[in-house]
Amino acid sequence: MSAAQQIIGSANPLSESPIPSPTSGERNDHLWEIASLRQALRDGPSTEQQNDATKRPAGGISLDVMRSLYASNSGPIGLRRSNSSVVYPGGPPEFPPVKKLNPLNKKRILVSGGAGFVGSHLVDRLMLMGHDVIAIDNYFTGSKTNLAHWFGHPNFEMIRHDVVDPIMLEVDQIYHLACPASPVHYQSNPVKTLKTGFFGTYNMLGLAKRVKARFLLTSTSEVYGDPEEHPQKETYWGHVNCIGPRACYDEGKRVAEALAYSYARQDGVDVRVARIFNTFGPRMNWNDGRVVSNFIVQALKNDDITIYGDGSATRSFQYVHDLVDGLIALMESDYKEPVNLGNPEEYTIKQFADTILQLVRDHKERCGEAAPTSKVVHLPAAEDDPQRRKPDTTRAKEVLGWAPQWSATDGLRETVAYFHGRMQQG
Ligand SMILES: NC(=O)c1ccc[n+]([C@@H]2O[C@H](COP(=O)([O-])OP(=O)(O)OC[C@H]3O[C@@H](n4cnc5c(N)ncnc54)[C@H](O)[C@@H]3O)[C@@H](O)[C@H]2O)c1
Repeated sequence: MSAAQQIIGSANPLSESPIPSPTSGERNDHLWEIASLRQALRDGPSTEQQNDATKRPAGGISLDVMRSLYASNSGPIGLRRSNSSVVYPGGPPEFPPVKKLNPLNKKRILVSGGAGFVGSHLVDRLMLMGHDVIAIDNYFTGSKTNLAHWFGHPNFEMIRHDVVDPIMLEVDQIYHLACPASPVHYQSNPVKTLKTGFFGTYNMLGLAKRVKARFLLTSTSEVYGDPEEHPQKETYWGHVNCIGPRACYDEGKRVAEALAYSYARQDGVDVRVARIFNTFGPRMNWNDGRVVSNFIVQALKNDDITIYGDGSATRSFQYVHDLVDGLIALMESDYKEPVNLGNPEEYTIKQFADTILQLVRDHKERCGEAAPTSKVVHLPAAEDDPQRRKPDTTRAKEVLGWAPQWSATDGLRETVAYFHGRMQQG
């Protein structure tokens, strides 16, 4: 059993329950985890981390600290519930170490969709940076488990709320992420996806207007549709099928952008728009049909790797820490036009499947396990699936000084290790 497995104990990380029931040894595991976090902060970067020196997440937060948050996701650190009573093992609850900010620099920040894949990494970063964070989520695709390590922290609040309904909160900034992002989920209820795209954004913008908060929309490369321009610049207007199965998401995001700029023109709302290209990393839902999680899980389970189409379509994949760097840099900048955030390394889907298979092979070998026996198989292409995708990130470089620091391969290595750890937990 690896050290990571020992830390995590027997809690099922896939369970929705934010607080797993206590099991013997769990309390010590968590104390051990806190001690190792503190140690990591005292010792500075490990050798591995020094090799990763160019890939430090923003805000001066070390990669080891970031890793420790998603390596466990087994429940809030130090806080346990026994039947209906709260038990604090060894004293008050202990949390990942957050910075102490001067009150003038400390912001109240709302993250809609905070319990999702990207949202939870963003919440982690903002919390570690020392801000007050409110996450709202209806848990359609997100999970409380993703943020359980912050429950009870005085700087953190989690609200179950559907953004299709209005909400009133006092905040300085709003990161609006709430929206299902995988085709399986957004196509399962396309009308709801459109309502989330329009009413969700409308409500968040209305809130930004009332409380004079800066507003950042997480839009998508899908606004470019099946692009006729390659790579895609922010000035490209797109090529979207407005009646196809992906339209609920693509058009939902397009109308969300139109709403944001209408509020900016009409009411002076201070808006930022990030057009996000395919992003992957720990805490991705492992069964929502996205390419990276699909391929990794298939290879880890020795299932065949399924490619829709002949595998010649291209994609660019960015690691989630790069995206979070970009979102925070954009929010803090004065730049108001849309900005592409993505990694311009371009792979065919077939190359990507081969790379993942190799990385899983290497990882299993390191763990002393048999090599995967998966083969690549082809299924009919999905309707309206774009053929080519690659961001032009010149604008992000010029206006934010942002460029991806993680190669797709490095990010995949981390993600393979994460999924492998989770699968071993059952
Ligand atoms: N991950 C990517 O590759 C990618 C690419 C482009 C854009 N984006 C955008 O980034 C954002 C986050 O994506 P993600 O990959 O983390 O997806 P995700 O599905 O993991 O997260 C979305 C979160 O929003 C919540 N949510 C959905 N509808 C809601 C509603 N009506 N009210 C409240 N909460 C709701 C979900 O429960 C989930 O926690 C989305 O807006 C998505 O469109 C992501």
